[in-house]
Amino acid sequence: MALAIDLRGRLALITGASGELGRVMARTLAQAGADIAVHYHGNEAKANALVDELKSLKVNAAAFQAEVGSLASVMAMRDAVFASLGEPGIVIANAVSQIWPWESVLNEAIGDYEDQFRSCVLHNVNLAKAFIPAMKVKQHGRYIGINTECTMQMLPTQSAYVSGKRGMDGVLRVLAQEVGPDQITVNQVAPGWTISERYRHEGTSGDEAYVAAVPMRRRGTDQEVANAVAFLASDLASFITGTYLPVCGGNVMPRV
Ligand SMILES: NC(=O)c1ccc[n+]([C@@H]2O[C@H](COP(=O)([O-])OP(=O)(O)OC[C@H]3O[C@@H](n4cnc5c(N)ncnc54)[C@H](OP(=O)(O)O)[C@@H]3O)[C@@H](O)[C@H]2O)c1
Repeated sequence: MALAIDLRGRLALITGASGELGRVMARTLAQAGADIAVHYHGNEAKANALVDELKSLKVNAAAFQAEVGSLASVMAMRDAVFASLGEPGIVIANAVSQIWPWESVLNEAIGDYEDQFRSCVLHNVNLAKAFIPAMKVKQHGRYIGINTECTMQMLPTQSAYVSGKRGMDGVLRVLAQEVGPDQITVNQVAPGWTISERYRHEGTSGDEAYVAAVPMRRRGTDQEVANAVAFLASDLASFITGTYLPVCGGNVMPRV
């Protein structure tokens, strides 16, 4: 048999599965055989439509609402997921609260930094507190945080987002150290500016300068991000932990 990503018998929780990249991660993991807990925040209709689509792939799926920055809300989601689908062996922290437009440090509202701290840092702390204990009992688990190439770029106006995602990186690298003995891996996938359904619909004009600076001279796709997530979720990645994996055509390159 050819080498394949096989997630049959696994349950994956994906936060922000109602969003652009999350829904493709959900489809991809389901195609590999995983049952999917579809998390959403406000877009219940999109989450329910995704659940129906995933069930047509012959996997089990259900939708769960939560505010990822709230421990009480994430714990309530955990109880609902455990009761209806079981204990996830794969957790993907993908949701993000979008701020637009971004401002310079001097102009960005304090509340925006607090929002990104909740959305990026506390999101991961809350998911870890909720879902890692059950992984420890099983001595197996996959935790994947979705970061961004922006974390390494330090571009003007991105300070709220970058500070949140850098804080998330700190939480997850420490977590990788702490749960490694339990055979739980903790990794991050860092997309570049990705082509997803929205851009296929609206077009990609205005990205020429960005593309010209990318070594591979194009933007990546939602599917290419999801492929990296599927690999890290699988047994093929059993000895990889603590990584920050850019999926951005070389636009940022972490140094050894
Ligand atoms: N798209 C890119 O080009 C790109 C590039 C680099 C990194 N990323 C990263 O990839 C991840 C996904 O991005 P995306 O572009 O797919 O985002 P998106 O389409 O805006 O989706 C964001 C998701 O997060 C959920 N969400 C928003 N605020 C929330 C909150 N307070 N509590 C719980 N859930 C909340 C949304 O739920 P509802 O829709 O149900 O309200 C939605 O499912 C993010 O971590 C982002 O930083 C994306």
